Amino acid sequence: MKTQEMPPGFCLGIALIDNQHARFFELMNRMIEADTRGDNRDLVAQIIAELVAYVADHFHTEEDLMARCGYPDLGEHVLLHIQFAGLVENFHTKYVNEDIGLDDEVLGYLVEWFSNHIRVEDPKYVLLARENGF
Ligand SMILES: [Fe+2]
Ligand SMILES: [Fe+2]
Repeated sequence: MKTQEMPPGFCLGIALIDNQHARFFELMNRMIEADTRGDNRDLVAQIIAELVAYVADHFHTEEDLMARCGYPDLGEHVLLHIQFAGLVENFHTKYVNEDIGLDDEVLGYLVEWFSNHIRVEDPKYVLLARENGF
């Protein structure tokens, strides 16, 4: 799978969130590059563990922001976050415990899910966030 930067059109205009979103692509790229170089599995596993921590941290930031703004569809948004966090945790567990490589299909699905979430779901809280000074 090829590395990719976050497309410029993905920016929401909230620096805190945009920087975190860009970090997702940085982590995916580091993971793909480490795997392509044939570095040992420990390094790839460590980057996937960073991704797990990143996802928890980013979703916590967003949920806190939405809660502070009184965003009405917080519950629905949190369910989507839980779904993705579970996917990433499973991916980590599988990579560590089974002798599998990085699967393009799995990586592609994670990038697709996250990109779609940034383009479709996250923009829904932006107006309210701006009104609340974010
Ligand atoms: Fe997000
Ligand atoms: Fe989100």
